Amino acid sequence: MESFRLTKKEMQLLAGKYPTPFVVISLAQVEKNYDFLRRRMPRVNVYYAMKANPAPRIMETLARRGASFDTASAGEIETLARMGIPGTRMIYANPVKTPQGMAAAAQFGVRRFTFDDRSEIGKMAAAVPGAEVLVRVRVKNQKALVDLNAKFGAEPEAALLLLREAKEAGLSPVGLCFHVGSQSLSLEAYHDALLLMRRLFDEAAAAGMPLSLLDIGGGFPIPTADGGRPDAGGLMTAIEAEIEALFLDVEVWAEPGRFLCGTAVNLVTSVIGEKERGGQIWYILDEGLYGTFSGAIFDHWTFDFVAFKPGRRRKTTLVGPSCDSIDFVRRDILLPKLAVGDKLLVPDCGAYTTASATTFNGFALATEIYWEDEQAARQVFYRGVPA
Ligand SMILES: Cc1ncc(COP(=O)(O)O)c(C=O)c1O
Repeated sequence: MESFRLTKKEMQLLAGKYPTPFVVISLAQVEKNYDFLRRRMPRVNVYYAMKANPAPRIMETLARRGASFDTASAGEIETLARMGIPGTRMIYANPVKTPQGMAAAAQFGVRRFTFDDRSEIGKMAAAVPGAEVLVRVRVKNQKALVDLNAKFGAEPEAALLLLREAKEAGLSPVGLCFHVGSQSLSLEAYHDALLLMRRLFDEAAAAGMPLSLLDIGGGFPIPTADGGRPDAGGLMTAIEAEIEALFLDVEVWAEPGRFLCGTAVNLVTSVIGEKERGGQIWYILDEGLYGTFSGAIFDHWTFDFVAFKPGRRRKTTLVGPSCDSIDFVRRDILLPKLAVGDKLLVPDCGAYTTASATTFNGFALATEIYWEDEQAARQVFYRGVPA
């Protein structure tokens, strides 16, 4: 699956128009990613994990396409409600919910929740009596970039008891969910998780609590800076086949974040300084770890940099603009010689980047530009064809 990627000319035209740093968002790429997933997983209802990138127009694009939403907080529920998305198109999928989150859920009609501990049951039953609840089950996966099972998930042996306790509290236990971890490269992890879920579905039915909903979380991978091109399509097709075989009469949801928005965004950043340290050239960029590159910390992501410049490539260090010495963006990356003012393009940086950026030290957030607006304004050329 191709990513959205500006050409050198397109980048330069935009850099002539907007001060860096800026991110360019392709809504067409978001649509392509959504359609790609839907084609390969027609059985699966998509709940976009908006935490990955809550840019309003990404959300509107997905909502128009038919997506629903995975929310983690009162803020996300309220954002969706302001957009006119009804609570029936949301799941509150943070296993631990705040009083504000429960109040927002009650106010805006969110009736589906995940949980992984008995301490949540009273909260859900009090705020939304009769709500439909799913137990989040802990699964194993060594091959995910971001482990989401260290903090979340009930042990499989506890799932049935949690469903029963929820039922006794007046809730409606409808299903199970899991998340194999983000940027998962392993079909085996989904395979093992689906088999485990099947076993738990059977046990629940035998215990008089037939389940009707399975939520397989997110985790679908995108290309990486080291040239990795994970076969997300193959992974999806294989998961769909297993769902078809194991969960014929069950409603199935997924909560993709990264896959829908990750490849739809390019960042453009400028070199604002240079120095030599320890025999290596360092370039100081106008975007750093406290900004879009926050994903290097929170998402464990390694960013790719395209210099569009010829010349011998040598080991280079890239640092951000803040007065904090944690602000190393990449070490030992092979780049040609650059000059102050040169621009660098960062592809595939739409997930867990701008969403966690701060204005620490007073640096403004990267400006968000929509590629479709630029095309409509006929001020740039798209892939060599006049817009
Ligand atoms: C509950 C839940 N669902 C979905 C996602 C999205 O995962 P991904 O971006 O890997 O698709 C996350 C990510 O943190 C999550 O916590």
